[in-house]
Amino acid sequence: MKKVNISCPGKLMLFGDHAVVHNRHCLVTAVDQRLTVTIEKSSDEGITLTAPDVGLNNFAFSLADSDSPDFPKVAKFVAQSISNFSKRHSFSMGLRVSTRSEFGATFGFGSSSAVTVATLKALDEVFETHLSNEDIFQLGYQTVIDIQGVGSGFDLASAIWGNTILFATGGKEIVPLGVSSLPIVVGYTGVKADTATLVKQVNKLKQQYPAFVESVFDQIESIVLEAKPLIVEQEWAEVGQYMNFQQGLLESLGVGSPQLSSLIFAARHAGAFGAKLSGAGGGDCMITVVDDDHRKAVETAIIQAGGTVLSVNLSAPGLKVQSDND
Ligand code: MEV
Repeated sequence: MKKVNISCPGKLMLFGDHAVVHNRHCLVTAVDQRLTVTIEKSSDEGITLTAPDVGLNNFAFSLADSDSPDFPKVAKFVAQSISNFSKRHSFSMGLRVSTRSEFGATFGFGSSSAVTVATLKALDEVFETHLSNEDIFQLGYQTVIDIQGVGSGFDLASAIWGNTILFATGGKEIVPLGVSSLPIVVGYTGVKADTATLVKQVNKLKQQYPAFVESVFDQIESIVLEAKPLIVEQEWAEVGQYMNFQQGLLESLGVGSPQLSSLIFAARHAGAFGAKLSGAGGGDCMITVVDDDHRKAVETAIIQAGGTVLSVNLSAPGLKVQSDND
């Protein structure tokens, strides 16, 4: 029976964190660590999921089970993706699904969005429904909103299109920058952050201080639009300066953390052009833009400050399809 493997890259937010949830733009780059979903039809009824990274082996479920609170997170995204796909293209087969990840859920590289996109694309290939990338994005965005209730969808776009893209909330604009690599070092704080909680925290701040928070979002937006051509033209010192500006704005929204700050200051003191948190904040990763002469010193400083340097290439390719008929 036809078996399809789809792999998607992880992602890192460069600029536009949080503001992109509120109708602004962001810049996101794809990480060359990939998550793969394999799907094949099965003559058995129901769905089984094997996800060794989270200890699931032939976990059997029906779509109705996924509302239960102890349903595993990866299975929730797989089940909701299947459910949304089947509303558009109904099918009555059983399915065998497996996932394999090079990055897991720890770093904030977007494992939920990658698993969602890869599941939808694998279903599209298995059932030959010829969905466009935009269709996959819309089904994926629906899936994320169904589960998390909040989010801009930037991580889904990165999983689909890869590269480094300018993205507007809900996929209203998706523009690849066409850059092949970025001189960015990624430091992991060791603290896992929960994106939905932090997004809701910023929403609450916006309700309490609407004028202030909107003006912060506007400034974040103008940094995104200034940074875009600077990245294309490889003006890294300038990109670093804008990272520093943006970090200050994100701090004002209350999404910094002591661990993020210590890695960010360590990188700056070791000669980086600039540094900021990447994503929701509260933990996960920071990014710093460096030249070759300072890279080693910056990496050492991040480690000495208690972080882990993640060795990744950026602006990686988007989703890849590999089918085999056995
Ligand atoms: C989380 O990685 C980035 C946020 O902007 C949320 C989102 O865009 O969905 C905080």
